[in-house]
Amino acid sequence: MRDDLYRIKQELADRLKTANDLPGWEALEAEYFSRTAGKFTNLIKKLKQLPEEERKIMGRLGNEVKDEMLSALSARRSFLEGARFARLAETEAIDVTAPFLPPLPMGHLHPTTHVQSDLEDLFTSMGFTILDGPELESEYYNFESVNIPADHPARDMQDTFYIKGHPHWVMRTHTSPVQVRALERYGVPIRAIVPGRCFRNEATDPRHEHTLYQLEGLVVDRQITFSHLKGILETVARYLYGEATQVRLRPKFYPFVEPGVNGEVTCFLCAGAGCRVCKETGWLEIFGAGMVHPNVLTAGGVDPREYQGFAFGLGLSRLVMLKYKIEDVRHLQTGDLRFLSQF
Ligand code: PHE
Repeated sequence: MRDDLYRIKQELADRLKTANDLPGWEALEAEYFSRTAGKFTNLIKKLKQLPEEERKIMGRLGNEVKDEMLSALSARRSFLEGARFARLAETEAIDVTAPFLPPLPMGHLHPTTHVQSDLEDLFTSMGFTILDGPELESEYYNFESVNIPADHPARDMQDTFYIKGHPHWVMRTHTSPVQVRALERYGVPIRAIVPGRCFRNEATDPRHEHTLYQLEGLVVDRQITFSHLKGILETVARYLYGEATQVRLRPKFYPFVEPGVNGEVTCFLCAGAGCRVCKETGWLEIFGAGMVHPNVLTAGGVDPREYQGFAFGLGLSRLVMLKYKIEDVRHLQTGDLRFLSQF
């Protein structure tokens, strides 16, 4: 019996070496340990025929041998499973010495995004918060809340897209509605900019597009004056076009400011002498601005007798055109790679 046990153990050990896959391993396990006809099982059944003394000894030996055989089996199984993963790793391995393929073309930021982030950097450095607002806006916020009543002719200046079946929703025509949203939500004092996409129902041409970007600014606090507005706008102009840049403000009507101005900067190309870019005027119009109208403050829940502020709207798309000398605003929306890959 002792010899039989050692022999069977050795036999399994030898045969395991040639079990090279899991089905082979499973067959071996069954051959030795199947409950009904396993070689080891059968051998152990013979224990019963031995005299009592020997049976005890052989029983103990049998258990030891069984443990050894089982652990040999499981060691082989782990090895086979590991080998499977190793093979996988082999086929998937990266040969770092292989010649490399030309790199795939990488995308990059849109010129509008570049100008927007530059301005965000400038404004955050002056303590402004960056805010967002919905592009699909209610008629109330887009018009009424910024002091453009339904029957006001100023509505004609900003025709937009209406949503079928939703008469009171519009694609926002400017970022100004976020002035009121911001006042309602954050109260005063406030210092914020709102870069974002706006829409106009326009016959498009090189200077007009149905989709454009603006950057709104809003500062409301006690004792804010027009000189603060001028200071900020001059800072922006110099940041964009250099220290020598001058700002010219001229009265202009916007329903949501009083007084209102339109802002121009000296042409960065001819420095005021007159050229093609500035249409021989020496000035480039880049924003609208003014002191926030009391009605707008009131709409935002702020008492205009206590607080005042200024607001401005930079034509972001316009700045992009000027910065990169883009002659047609419509290029910005095309997604045409011949245009985009130049930046
Ligand atoms: N919202 C105005 C426009 O779209 C620009 C503007 C903003 C003017 C803030 C004054 C103050 O034309």
